[in-house]
Amino acid sequence: SAPLSGLDASLLEILLSPSPKSPQESAAFGSTFTNHMLLVEWDSTVGWKAPRIVPYGSLALSPAVNVLHYSSTCFEGMKAFRGNDGKLRLFRPSMNLARFNRSAARIGLPTVDEDELLKLIWKFLEVDQSFIPNKQGHSLYLRPTMIATNPDLALVMPTSALLFLIASPVGSYYKSGFKAITMETVPSVRAWPGGVGDFKVGPNYGPSVVPHHQAHLNGSNQTLWLIDGDRITEANGMNIFAVIRSKDSEKLELATPPLDGLILSGVTRDSVLKLAREKLASSSFHVSERKLTMMELQEASSEGRLRELFGTGTAVVILPVRLLKWKEKGVAISCGLNNDQEAGDVATEMKRWIEDVQFGQEKHEWGVSM
Ligand code: COI
Repeated sequence: SAPLSGLDASLLEILLSPSPKSPQESAAFGSTFTNHMLLVEWDSTVGWKAPRIVPYGSLALSPAVNVLHYSSTCFEGMKAFRGNDGKLRLFRPSMNLARFNRSAARIGLPTVDEDELLKLIWKFLEVDQSFIPNKQGHSLYLRPTMIATNPDLALVMPTSALLFLIASPVGSYYKSGFKAITMETVPSVRAWPGGVGDFKVGPNYGPSVVPHHQAHLNGSNQTLWLIDGDRITEANGMNIFAVIRSKDSEKLELATPPLDGLILSGVTRDSVLKLAREKLASSSFHVSERKLTMMELQEASSEGRLRELFGTGTAVVILPVRLLKWKEKGVAISCGLNNDQEAGDVATEMKRWIEDVQFGQEKHEWGVSM
């Protein structure tokens, strides 16, 4: 039989919208979309078909498609930026595309040639470029997604799939902007050893909305997932970092949980670690990927040594935390900020360094233009 076709950007067909909307100021995160979407179908007998950019609209799917029953879906979060120099940039897109393939492979979906998908993303951005905001801190959020579309209830490897990309102009993830929030621990676990916690697959996200909603009812803005009682893994849709002063000296440590299979290997997480190692590390500032526990944060906070706690993610960039509620113990851990302070020094610097690359104020290999 003939070899399966790989993803081929040169076969792209473009059908422009007959009734394009004009871009508007970004509403709530991820709630409005551009005029087009990218679609590529795959099936196990021919491989990848010709990619198409078509007017944004509904998908027609059989109610039997595998994804609707067994959550065979993976996705990425990426952003396109309009630099102060007018250039369009993506931030470390190869990291997202590599992870997309890892996630797809884990749930039996086909992988793609990452260079071809990146070419298609640039084509898409060319078509809908008027939706890339021209405002510092604002961007076009890109959501490449893949779903299993074989219309049968058999619990087997997908025999057909749809890769699609939709895009939403966004500002700050939280309406309030770069403001310190309250986070609380969740009594259930998000992932477990040998599970899929380190893959960006749908089933890691859907079930998180109930504890997240409960946290909202309790007056918190974010949740923190633990395992083994008090070991910290990640927040909801973002990784977590702490800045802690050592017990016996003025030495500071920036610490985040290690990539042990339980947490997502975030692009922003990796960027914060690399920037910290490059710009902050010294004999009095350490950077570590290590086990962090609630007990340790509580102790550090009570001794005035917890300087900062912040989340990191593509959507949120950097999210400073003011108060961490350890629900199971009924304690509230204060995270080092004064009342008049919205972020600590490390969180503030990281946000600035990352945005400088994203918006082209700093020329850096992470800021990729077409
Ligand atoms: C992102 O940060 O891009 C994510 O995918 C998190 C999402 C739950 C908003």
